[in-house]
Amino acid sequence: MACGVNNILEAALKLQKEHGYVTEADVKAIAESVNRPVNAVYETLSFYSMILLKAPSVVRIEVCRGTSCYIKGGVDLLKELEQLTGCKPGETSEDGRYQVEYCECLGRCDTAPNIVVNGKLYTSISSEKLEEILKEVSN
Ligand code: FES
Repeated sequence: MACGVNNILEAALKLQKEHGYVTEADVKAIAESVNRPVNAVYETLSFYSMILLKAPSVVRIEVCRGTSCYIKGGVDLLKELEQLTGCKPGETSEDGRYQVEYCECLGRCDTAPNIVVNGKLYTSISSEKLEEILKEVSN
């Protein structure tokens, strides 16, 4: 039995290192690999405080609402952001993972539309780029 727990912990720590936390899919994969029920694996992992079963931090996304960004796709960007995160400016997603806010002109109107994610400026945002950024910061 102890060996089973060690295998679960070892796998969980490895996956947590890769993903930043142990995802639901990770727990299922671990359960299959050790031939144990998913609930039993959750129960084991929830006992250890070093195992994160939820995403560890909030991703804060600020969308420029200056004129250039607004004209160059800022409105569509907000719609896409709402689809991807489930929240509008001023809201936090239900899972607590994302916060979306407006920000004022970032002084980079030449590369509009622009956003700031966790304090980092991203320029010339397209749909594809937005998805890539969210994947990058969510891992
Ligand atoms: S309007 Fe967005 S950077 Fe200036």
